[in-house]
Amino acid sequence: MLAALAMAATAASLIGEPGCQTRCGDVDIPYPFGIVTSNGGVNCSLPGFEISCARTGNGSAVAPVLAGTDIAVLNLSVMPRPQARVLLPVAWQCFNSTGDSTGKSYGTVRFNADGVYRISDTHNELFVLGCNTLMYTNSGPPGRYKYTFYTGCMTFCNDSGSAQDGKCAGVGCCHVDIPPGLTDNWMQFGSTSTWSHADQEFSPCDYGFIVERGYYSFKASDLTTMPVNQTMPLRLDWAIRSGGNSSSTSMSCAAAAKKNKPQYACVSDHSECVNSSNGPGYFCNCTQGYEGNPYIVNGCTNINECARPTEYPCHGVCRDTEGSYECKCRAGYQNDGNPKEQPCSPKFPLAAQLALGITLGISLLIVAILLTLMVIHKRRMNEYFRKNGGSALQKVESIKIFTKDELNKITKNNSEVLGQGGFGKVYKGTLEDSSMVAVKSSIEVNEERKEDFTNEVTIQSQMIHRNILKLVGCCLEVDVPMLVYEFAAKGSLQDVLHGDGTHSRLPIPLDLRLEIAIGSAEGLRYMHSFTNHTIRHGDVKPDNILIDDKWIPKISDFGLSKLLKVDNYIATMVIGCMSYIDPVFMKTGLLTQKSDVYSFGAVLLELITRKKIVYGKNSSLIIEFCRLYDKEGSGRAMFDEDIATEENIFILEQIGKLAIECLKDDVNDRPDMNEVAEQLVMLRRDMKYGKAQNKSPRQFEGIATSDSPRSFATDTTSSSAAISLPSATPSREFPDL
Ligand SMILES: *[C@@H]1O[C@H](CO)[C@@H](O)[C@H](O)[C@H]1NC(C)=O
Ligand SMILES: *[C@@H]1O[C@H](CO)[C@@H](O)[C@H](O)[C@H]1NC(C)=O
Ligand SMILES: *[C@@H]1O[C@H](CO)[C@@H](O)[C@H](O)[C@H]1NC(C)=O
Ligand SMILES: *[C@@H]1O[C@H](CO)[C@@H](O)[C@H](O)[C@H]1NC(C)=O
Ligand SMILES: *[C@@H]1O[C@H](CO)[C@@H](O)[C@H](O)[C@H]1NC(C)=O
Ligand SMILES: *[C@@H]1O[C@H](CO)[C@@H](O)[C@H](O)[C@H]1NC(C)=O
Ligand SMILES: *[C@@H]1O[C@H](CO)[C@@H](O)[C@H](O)[C@H]1NC(C)=O
Ligand SMILES: *[C@@H]1O[C@H](CO)[C@@H](O)[C@H](O)[C@H]1NC(C)=O
Ligand SMILES: *[C@@H]1O[C@H](CO)[C@@H](O)[C@H](O)[C@H]1NC(C)=O
Repeated sequence: MLAALAMAATAASLIGEPGCQTRCGDVDIPYPFGIVTSNGGVNCSLPGFEISCARTGNGSAVAPVLAGTDIAVLNLSVMPRPQARVLLPVAWQCFNSTGDSTGKSYGTVRFNADGVYRISDTHNELFVLGCNTLMYTNSGPPGRYKYTFYTGCMTFCNDSGSAQDGKCAGVGCCHVDIPPGLTDNWMQFGSTSTWSHADQEFSPCDYGFIVERGYYSFKASDLTTMPVNQTMPLRLDWAIRSGGNSSSTSMSCAAAAKKNKPQYACVSDHSECVNSSNGPGYFCNCTQGYEGNPYIVNGCTNINECARPTEYPCHGVCRDTEGSYECKCRAGYQNDGNPKEQPCSPKFPLAAQLALGITLGISLLIVAILLTLMVIHKRRMNEYFRKNGGSALQKVESIKIFTKDELNKITKNNSEVLGQGGFGKVYKGTLEDSSMVAVKSSIEVNEERKEDFTNEVTIQSQMIHRNILKLVGCCLEVDVPMLVYEFAAKGSLQDVLHGDGTHSRLPIPLDLRLEIAIGSAEGLRYMHSFTNHTIRHGDVKPDNILIDDKWIPKISDFGLSKLLKVDNYIATMVIGCMSYIDPVFMKTGLLTQKSDVYSFGAVLLELITRKKIVYGKNSSLIIEFCRLYDKEGSGRAMFDEDIATEENIFILEQIGKLAIECLKDDVNDRPDMNEVAEQLVMLRRDMKYGKAQNKSPRQFEGIATSDSPRSFATDTTSSSAAISLPSATPSREFPDL
């Protein structure tokens, strides 16, 4: 309760002197105004600003009046302008029909004994109502004439209908602005003789008054019905004229602060003196950033501007300071000017922020995804490497293990396809030493087959023979391992004999065919004798005999040979052309080296007949040749016509006979590859011997003249044949063998 009282006292002290009543009726009474007290002890006002709190009518209600008068006070303000709103009497004069005055009032009232008030020129205006009327007010100290100011206006009406509501421009009503410095309310009338009002029942009275701007608007009826002895509100400016004598001295700020220090009215800190703009004197104002009452000690208090954003705008973060306030843009916002005046804008526009954020986010995401993919890829490659037996193969010296990247570089990303292998496409590649290689998929490797695979690759890499396609290396970082072989430029024997569809079939001389047969046989023989003699090719056929650029045959695609140990594969994996397959193996399921011999027999038949294993309308080369041989004791009718010359016939017959041997049903009747190779080599020797006897090598090379005699001397008992070259020698050049 004490605190509440203290607060109330503080609040009261802000507008009035301590111990003084600061409110009367509905009106606050701020110092320098003060209510006149009857105890006489305390002066609650500065001189000239006394207010009486008077009873109105018969009740207990009170209202302020200027002390010593009955002028009602409506409002008193100190800040921002020193003003008092009061009711002052209207001046009037009335006439009877003969134009004689029946009564008047000049509105004179003594409200300004100390000269602190002056009528506000900016907030009031002067009205005159009447129909043949001049009214004016005069005020101020004597000058050129009796007063300093004379102001008023005249109004006239032609007849009773002249005056119009809302029109106050000299017909029934006139009004003028007033000058500053007016201190009195009284009105002067034009002389009744000059300004006759006879026969003017429509406007019996004249009225003159100063009134608050905008308060009064003219109504024509007021000319007849407006009561006399009434009041109008108007605003008074006031100023401090210093203690002492009102009429003699009027202090400016400079004078007040200098001479009358003890009586200087602006006593609050943060207050300042302002010269009155309306007449002499000064008033006080709180300095900028402060509000309250400058006429009392500590009356000016700091304004919390941040609490009043409409009066003190801030478009950023507001912080109150003593006498002022700070306004800064929020973090991340900026303002070229003053954030008190114009809104802050984001340093980065929202779109830019969004764009930046999204870009960053996406970049991070992409990086994350790429990293993950790389890790997954690397892990998978390592997995493949392990799965494909990489660690075992790394120990094998003769084989190079390529990384996936190296392989892609070698094959230029698989740009050149050589053909279709058993397990996928075969790509051409170039090693760093510019030697050509063929890269092909092997079979898929799983845990069961891993050991077989690594063994197989190991064995292949160790088989080094001019008639065996060399395994250069492998790549294990892929799902299905890739194998890198030396490159056979002329393709397979299948292509050479029967064409690969793109090239026309070219004649092939017998000795070249014999060389191919010998080479192939040597390759198989080497294979069969390799290590423990258990290695079989398993799929001997012209497709798997590759020819390099020097016409040297290379046995290839023996990937199955080792894996065939596993029973499961026999049925499923031995695919391809069934015709080359040993019928014994078909029956027993037992693959032996003699099965390779059988298949090689079929290849020999193809070499001498140049017929496919299945030719014509489903004729089997093996069956037809055996049948022919059984019938005629010779396969001559089926020999390739290109080479079936008398000179060659012996050799051809011998090869045919050897083929028949190889194709024997009983595996024990078949020669082994060793014998086959030896017999072929002997045939080559026979052929050269026979040739050396009969023909010059130049003729063999196809430069024989067309008229060379077709002579032949045959010794059927001899193993050698003397055969002359046919006149229609192929014109195609053949490589050196
Ligand atoms: C009050 O005012 C009267 C005259 O106006 C003066 O004589 C008197 O000293 C003043 N009293 C105080 C306390 O200022
Ligand atoms: C007292 O004033 C009230 C209005 O405020 C009025 O109605 C009443 O007649 C008055 N009484 C006397 C005796 O004047
Ligand atoms: C008195 O004046 C103040 C400031 O001019 C104003 O806020 C207030 O409403 C006024 N009161 C009346 C009753 O006119
Ligand atoms: C008007 O007033 C004058 C002077 O008081 C008087 O002599 C005159 O008779 C009056 N006229 C009328 C019509 O009442
Ligand atoms: C002025 O008044 C006379 C009579 O007094 C009338 O005849 C005339 O029409 C009026 N003129 C105007 C413009 O109203
Ligand atoms: C107007 O007021 C004066 C003085 O207060 C008084 O003598 C006069 O009778 C009043 N007139 C009217 C019409 O009330
Ligand atoms: C004010 O000055 C006038 C004359 O100038 C004098 O008559 C009056 O007594 C003075 N009043 C005071 C309070 O000094
Ligand atoms: C007030 O007026 C006086 C002279 O009339 C002048 O010297 C003084 O500087 C003015 N003070 C202010 C604050 O305007
Ligand atoms: C009084 O001070 C306030 C703020 O300091 C200012 O806005 C106002 O204009 C000042 N009044 C006068 C009359 O100088």
